[in-house]
Amino acid sequence: MKTAVYAHRGSKSNRPENTLASFEEAMRVGSDGIELDVHLTKDQQVVVMHDEKIDRTTNGKGQIKSYTLEELKRFDAGSWFSPKFKGERVPTLSQVLELLKNYQGVLNIEFKTDRNVYPSIEARVADLVDQYRPLLPVVYSSFNHESLIRLKQIKPNAEIALLLWERLADPWRYTEQVGATAQHLWQPTALSETAAQLQNHGIKVRAWTVNQPKNMQLAFEMGLDAIITDHPEAALDLRKSYET
Ligand code: G3P
Ligand code: MG
Repeated sequence: MKTAVYAHRGSKSNRPENTLASFEEAMRVGSDGIELDVHLTKDQQVVVMHDEKIDRTTNGKGQIKSYTLEELKRFDAGSWFSPKFKGERVPTLSQVLELLKNYQGVLNIEFKTDRNVYPSIEARVADLVDQYRPLLPVVYSSFNHESLIRLKQIKPNAEIALLLWERLADPWRYTEQVGATAQHLWQPTALSETAAQLQNHGIKVRAWTVNQPKNMQLAFEMGLDAIITDHPEAALDLRKSYET
């Protein structure tokens, strides 16, 4: 089985993360999947960013949830990375879904609900996915498993993946109880004997964030289901040597 390569926040190593430029690049290099993170603005719009605060990845300051979408759109989300990307904006999930409407790979949407409560974010995301991507693959993940359970209640056929740092005590039973098909594991946990045990129980294992070539190689050799990486192009190149 070929290990899939998912682009983490798009092509994070050479584009400003979680921007349209980053997702375009991830598609261009042929990523098998694209991972992104979602939050809600003050006026309940789903936007794509990693942190709860805009300080690190825009020229503004403060919490996403304290801005309306119109206010958030005034900030530059590209210059912090390189002047070449001046003018990039914080994308809405709708904009990303529009960009990816013909993308046949997996879209991995991570709910950033571990620190903030974003009422109804799961239903809002499910509606947008139904609108733009009804037949193309989507995997939902979160460190907040309650978000995934809520999503599953709204969308029973949704594929959900538990984000985890460490191995759980009884990982297969819990995964089954929640209705998940996969675990997205912190790299040191994924690159251990836990991976094969989970896979033997029919649970897919995807590792984050796998950036070192030696760890990519190990993941390919172990037959992990996917790696989530900041370097999708390099990972895809490296994987070629396992395809001959
Ligand atoms: O979904 C994998 C990975 O993105 C989880 O961590 O902090 O990069 O969202 P983080
Ligand atoms: Mg993430």
